[in-house]
Amino acid sequence: MKIVALGGSPRGTAGNTLRLLEAAMEGARETGATVEYYDIARQNIDYCIGCAKCYETGSCILEDDYEEILEAMMDADGFLVASPVYINAITAQLKTLIDRMADIVHCQKFRGKYAAFVTTGGGGGTDCVLEYLGGAWQVFGASVVGGTSAVMAEGEERFAEAVDESRALGRRLAAAIAHEEVYPEQEAFHEGMREHMTALVTAHRDEWPSEYAYHRSRGWIPE
Ligand SMILES: Cc1cc2nc3c(=O)[nH]c(=O)nc-3n(C[C@H](O)[C@H](O)[C@H](O)COP(=O)(O)O)c2cc1C
Repeated sequence: MKIVALGGSPRGTAGNTLRLLEAAMEGARETGATVEYYDIARQNIDYCIGCAKCYETGSCILEDDYEEILEAMMDADGFLVASPVYINAITAQLKTLIDRMADIVHCQKFRGKYAAFVTTGGGGGTDCVLEYLGGAWQVFGASVVGGTSAVMAEGEERFAEAVDESRALGRRLAAAIAHEEVYPEQEAFHEGMREHMTALVTAHRDEWPSEYAYHRSRGWIPE
């Protein structure tokens, strides 16, 4: 079992968010999962320029660290994704990665994968981050296992609880992967998204041959 962990804080190891992410990674590792960590703020990831070449060819024209991260994500069974709250949202560094992933949405390439999230905020805003990240990974096709958060103003005792919750979340993520957990509400969402995307890709089959071929290879478009 392979889990990719994405750390979205520019403060890295000096930060609060990585402390929660590390606990979640530990929890997953305790169950035997392999966890591969990417410090997203220290990767070279350019902005999406909206050229739509990935729809056409299945790969990005920008030459940077995205391709390696994409390969790792495609190879993963699950994700642990972390961001601090920056003005009621995720960090720009993590959003820059996410914006590169429109082809994942069109092809629902994370179908069958699982995700969990952690966040910290100074005084609040953690719900905004968990909601955004959960929504993003669901539109990629992944099932959301849960999220944990800590508000730093609530003090060390609460933070210690959040560390324990994050360790448990990591274990839950690994268990969901191992048991191929099915969440009926999310399944209904995924099937609706998939049908919508198959219709979109079919309508654009001449411009987006790679995505059309992907949908066919998954059996979503009859031969
Ligand atoms: C640019 C910036 C924006 C922030 N915006 C918010 C915010 O909207 N709400 C909040 O409660 N805390 C906010 N914070 C505080 C951080 O979310 C908080 O300190 C968090 O624990 C930092 O995580 P890190 O140490 O992993 O980077 C902000 C911090 C920075 C640097």
